[in-house]
Amino acid sequence: MRDVHSRSSLGQGRIRHLSIRLRPDFDQTTIHFRAQYTMDRPVRRDLHLDARDIHLDRARSRGARLSFDYDQDDPLLGQRLVLHDLDGSDQFVLEGKCSPTASALQWLTPQMTTGGLQPFLYTQCQAIHARCLFPCQDTPGVRFTFDAEVETPDRLTAVMGAAFRGKTGRKGLQAFRFRMPQPIPSYLFALAVGDLQFRPTSERCGVFAEPVLADSAAWEFARAEEMIQIAESMYGPYLWDRYDILVLPKGFPWGGMENPRLTFLTPSTLAGTRDFDGTVMHELGHAWTGNLVTNATWEDFWLNEGWTTYIQIRLREAIDGTELASFERRWSTDLLSAEIRRLKKHPEQTALKFPMEGVDPDEALSLVPYEKGAQFLFAIEQAVGRKRFDSFTRAYIRRFSFRPITTDMFLRFLTSRLPGIGRRVPLRTWIYHRGLPPSPPRVTSHLYRQVRTIQNRFKAGVLPTRPDVSGWDWRQTSMFLDTLPDQVSLNECLAIEEAFALKESKNYAVLGYYYPHAIRAGNKGALPRIRSYLLKVGGLYFLRLVYTALSATAWSREEALQLYTENRPTYHPITQGIVDKILNEAGLRVASEV
Ligand code: BES
Ligand code: ZN
Repeated sequence: MRDVHSRSSLGQGRIRHLSIRLRPDFDQTTIHFRAQYTMDRPVRRDLHLDARDIHLDRARSRGARLSFDYDQDDPLLGQRLVLHDLDGSDQFVLEGKCSPTASALQWLTPQMTTGGLQPFLYTQCQAIHARCLFPCQDTPGVRFTFDAEVETPDRLTAVMGAAFRGKTGRKGLQAFRFRMPQPIPSYLFALAVGDLQFRPTSERCGVFAEPVLADSAAWEFARAEEMIQIAESMYGPYLWDRYDILVLPKGFPWGGMENPRLTFLTPSTLAGTRDFDGTVMHELGHAWTGNLVTNATWEDFWLNEGWTTYIQIRLREAIDGTELASFERRWSTDLLSAEIRRLKKHPEQTALKFPMEGVDPDEALSLVPYEKGAQFLFAIEQAVGRKRFDSFTRAYIRRFSFRPITTDMFLRFLTSRLPGIGRRVPLRTWIYHRGLPPSPPRVTSHLYRQVRTIQNRFKAGVLPTRPDVSGWDWRQTSMFLDTLPDQVSLNECLAIEEAFALKESKNYAVLGYYYPHAIRAGNKGALPRIRSYLLKVGGLYFLRLVYTALSATAWSREEALQLYTENRPTYHPITQGIVDKILNEAGLRVASEV
């Protein structure tokens, strides 16, 4: 199997263990590393590794200097590092530092944190950013264990997706030690450093957050243990020992990231309502599908996200019952249709599997692998019945634990375990055809019909009122807002704002669906609230919607530029790149500092 996002050679051997020392320098915004690599076999001749924006000082093997150079350079994939002539050694040491613009990192000044006193640093390696931290075989097909030592100024705490092994302090400096006994692919390598406090929520669960947020985070995510127990009863033991959650600063580009042992979450999930426990269900689900059974390449990404979205719904059903789970399933078919419409310039991305040569996985990220993937699995479940499908799933997880899996391997396993399935579900159509899925299972949902009723009335000219929608779940509100016509009138917009009490809402998803409508409808009164939303929210998904609307609407174009200029330093480099593009394409010139 070929990974089009990696240039490293696997033929000469694979990294099996990494022993790494990391020293973040907050003044220079760089991390110095010294990494000892252990390969699974002696390496003859040259070894090729992925690297990007890395400055290598030294390479040594068996105490002797290794010569190295770079033989390829590509804006997406980076350079290919060539270590010359390892001469039968299975170990080597690399020393160097990463670039201040490394896309795997966000550096925050104290002013950019909630507490305001200490700087903050965190990694986001998925999909192809680990190569910006240290040279590696940056493909999900290679797994390694590691031990790490992280040196930080005192008062800061280092956390990793790994087991904490103790801390030693020297004057002004401390070293945190970690060990990761379960082998992981490079994209799951995770580190954060900041002013962090820990609150346990069960024997094996807890949360890390900035001190002012720690108590609310512990309350918000207190149900993680319950979720693990349910997931274990369905999919087998949780094999990662601990499950902690780290609440990141505003700039974290995703809702959540399934770093092993330590899920990373956007602070926007701290709603004070437990509204976003679905994000925890999802990231926890990855502990089985993704982190244990791992997509072999980013072209098989749907195996990570489709399976995990499926598990997320199963957890929702087990915890909150079928009513909410059915609603989420039903709404997601609309989300998928809307996403397929949005992707009209990239119809190839509406297939579950499509060629990704030259494609940036961050830019190609869409709901398709999530929602179409989950619907595909529900279609199989429906064909064979839940009982059989559940035992298939358990066998699948057992068989491929700690292994990479391609779409073809999945299909072979599926058809051997569930003979005849190919006659009942058009497997290849689901996977390789573009557009809407062939035969999605029908789901009926009472909560969904409630929204549809109000929607239909709206289309017929009857505006929603408070009593119409009182008692709605925030997801129903989101669905209503998400499926409104692009252009609503100011009058309609104000009625909606009133009916759903959107002036008072603090839910970042509801507001993220609402503000684009408010902007396009010319609801200038919402501007101060949009301004404070942008001060707090940094997740890419909703920023994309809000900045697209701001920059494409005449009255708010200049505001877009001003708001973006103010907030840009607080956003992650990935987000900056994508929003820069949105504004530039709208003809607005972003003054970036780099
Ligand atoms: N692994 C993804 C996030 C990701 C995907 C990061 C691709 C980089 C590249 C994570 O599990 C995820 O799917 N997060 C979702 C939340 C979820 C509830 C759908 C997100 O961030 O929106
Ligand atoms: Zn996911």
